[in-house]
Amino acid sequence: MFRTHTCGELNLKNVNLSVTLSGWVQTIRKFGSITFVDLRDRYGITQLLFAEHLNEQLEANPLGREFVLQVSGTVSERSNKNAHLATGDIEILVTDFSILNKSITPPFTIQDDTDGGDDLRMKYRFLDLRRNAVKRNLELRYAVGRSTRNYLHEQQFMDIETPFLIKSTPEGARDFVVPSRMNPGQFYALPQSPQTFKQLLMVSGYDRYYQIVKCFRDEDLRADRQPEFTQIDCEMAFVEQEDILNMFEGLVKRIFKDVKNIDYTEKAERMTWENAMWTYGNDKPDIRFGMKLCNLKYPSHTFPGREDLSHLISGADFKVFDEAESVIAISAPGCSEYTRKQTDELTEWVKRPQIGMKGLVYIKCNADGSFKSSIDKFYSEEKLKAIATAMQAQPGDLILMLAGAEERTRKATSELRLHLGQQLGLRQPHEFKLLWVLDFPLFEYAEDDNRWVARHHPFTSPKPTDIDTMINNNPVIENPAEYLKHPYANIKANAYDMVLNGNEIGGGSIRIFQKELQQKMFAALGMDEHEQQHKFGFLLGAFEYGAPPHGGIAFGFDRLCAILGGSESIRDFIAFPKNNSGRDVMIDAPSAIDQKQFDELQIRLDLK
Ligand code: AMO
Repeated sequence: MFRTHTCGELNLKNVNLSVTLSGWVQTIRKFGSITFVDLRDRYGITQLLFAEHLNEQLEANPLGREFVLQVSGTVSERSNKNAHLATGDIEILVTDFSILNKSITPPFTIQDDTDGGDDLRMKYRFLDLRRNAVKRNLELRYAVGRSTRNYLHEQQFMDIETPFLIKSTPEGARDFVVPSRMNPGQFYALPQSPQTFKQLLMVSGYDRYYQIVKCFRDEDLRADRQPEFTQIDCEMAFVEQEDILNMFEGLVKRIFKDVKNIDYTEKAERMTWENAMWTYGNDKPDIRFGMKLCNLKYPSHTFPGREDLSHLISGADFKVFDEAESVIAISAPGCSEYTRKQTDELTEWVKRPQIGMKGLVYIKCNADGSFKSSIDKFYSEEKLKAIATAMQAQPGDLILMLAGAEERTRKATSELRLHLGQQLGLRQPHEFKLLWVLDFPLFEYAEDDNRWVARHHPFTSPKPTDIDTMINNNPVIENPAEYLKHPYANIKANAYDMVLNGNEIGGGSIRIFQKELQQKMFAALGMDEHEQQHKFGFLLGAFEYGAPPHGGIAFGFDRLCAILGGSESIRDFIAFPKNNSGRDVMIDAPSAIDQKQFDELQIRLDLK
């Protein structure tokens, strides 16, 4: 028997027990003639004491870091206890040991605080995974998966697998393709999501489906994106939006409870997409803190019917504002005493290419009620006060204003808000705020092709009240400069995103389930009948055999885990992730393949 116990379970109750443990050597410390070894396994660390009588054996079989060791001995109370360790009250008085396997010196020490840097960690991921920090993340991931399965099982969802070798599913990224040896010159696409299959399952009558499933997208990578990632993918039949929101808010709350022991009793906030853009400049706002945007100037067609505050800044002969399409401000609480250096730093921050603004205007709302601003020359104290009042800025606040083209300025202000929120400690990783963003636009304008693309995906249904607009209007955009005036620009989708702490953790929609409307949708996206048949004939065909009304959602499983673990990088929550170039540096993939494989596939490599 390799072990009677794990390295994480022995305590004072086991004193005098004879035990056998197996694990990895974490540390070796010599005190005179005695040797202490910390033995580690998945469950914890136990201290071993090798007394003098074992020295000869130890000299003949020297131990090293990460050696795999089996020891037998007796549990004994420690004189020098370690309160940080579950097994810290005891140690094993070793009577016998054997080295099960040796290890060469690892490239980094396997401890909580030594990881050797990202590249090394990824190259030796199997060693990195021995570290507590990473292990805890994988344990959390497992707990989230278990909680998800339990909840969905209780709600009568059925886990059904769908194929990986399929035809392109449009989720907005490029496909990974796989050549078919048996069908030379033809390729499968790996699923960007199981979208069409889960819809077909609804047609088949499996009215509550789920799957924790790999998805593959060839897109530019970021901290929260991997080329292969995992979704909690769900679909329901005979439901309206409200049913879906309730069901899946329930799922996330259950996960909070099971995994973090958080009773999230309040209802998730709800916000329309338009409100999110107006108030936060972002379709996935972090609502853990305020600092809402004040829209001092904006093109009227972007937010029709909203309050116009432009009189507060106009007529002062300040060209930057007068010539800008948009002027948007935020008020940073308690920052009125920022030094010149600090405001300069913020200015530099917004001027970085990623943010792309030309400058930053500030108004200090001093504690004594006076105002000081970088635009004092143009704006009297009274005018500054009027702006501060409109923004509901308090004495002690620092107002920051950005001016420029609408889209860029809105995005930049949103980024600045998040940056300041972070700096001011308003974005605590262990405070959680759930938000549904609703009523997204159905279409997005693709400037390069002068046509509409689906904002979510082409299976998303328009709001019932917008169906007529869609059917009765020609999708062609006659005047690209005025695309926002096209009736399609205002069609809203029956779509929703779940946002957690400023991250999109899930998204879904109520689907189109009638063949004619689906065809209309494809046509609106520029697909002629031939292309529709070629790409989605199977789905259009299925819709002729009694497709029920249906809708669903998919959560980014890795993202959800990362946020629950207090991180925005999903990589540490995936056992074997890819780096930012999409490489697995451990196994060195992607890599060249043999000529024989090309021959079998009847493919000739001719790189451009
Ligand atoms: P969507 O494309 O919004 O919807 O994806 C759902 C969720 O998956 C996560 N996600 C990612 N996570 C890591 N790396 C990526 N590259 C990545 N891309 C997306 C996000 C996102 O919210 N079929 C639809 C769902 C539906 O309509 O039911 C879909 O895939 O958290």
